[in-house]
Amino acid sequence: MKENKVVNLYDFRHGLRVSINSYNIGERLSFNSNMMKNLYLSSLLHDIGKAHLDQMILNAPRKLNKNEFEHVKKHILYSVKEVRNLGFNEDIQNNIKYHHENYDGTGYLGLKGKEIPIVSRIIRICDTFDVLTNYRPYKNRMTVNEAFDEMEGKIKWYDEELYKIFKELIRNDNIHQLDISYINF
Ligand SMILES: [Fe+2]
Repeated sequence: MKENKVVNLYDFRHGLRVSINSYNIGERLSFNSNMMKNLYLSSLLHDIGKAHLDQMILNAPRKLNKNEFEHVKKHILYSVKEVRNLGFNEDIQNNIKYHHENYDGTGYLGLKGKEIPIVSRIIRICDTFDVLTNYRPYKNRMTVNEAFDEMEGKIKWYDEELYKIFKELIRNDNIHQLDISYINF
């Protein structure tokens, strides 16, 4: 039977915003064009595997139980499978595979520090910031300042050097915070 999976609008917009913010960090770090391409595609597609999850669980308006959380964690493997099937290179596959790693080693797969690909470390920051500052069925959106406070309470999860660059970009408004919530698709 032919698979019929749909990426919901939230995840689509989330991918766009994360890729734009990640791209700005890459520019600040003077990534070469090949790295910029990998960065852009990895951040755009990092959550594409969520299309394979039970959408009732993914969008549940409450805190998830342990089994449900384990189910949601599988999206990284589905995302990797999708990008592999689309023919994207191994760097992109790995960047996506490790986008839920914490800098202190407490993330999904336990990689730590510089073991985590730099693109995954960038996505980790932009991803979290975007989730915090946007509405989800299970939570309200935070202001930019609240999101920074929240992230700084768990600063060990993030590459601090990258976090500083990201914060500076947002603070100086040098980053394009894509607001496409007004678009009717
Ligand atoms: Fe994710």
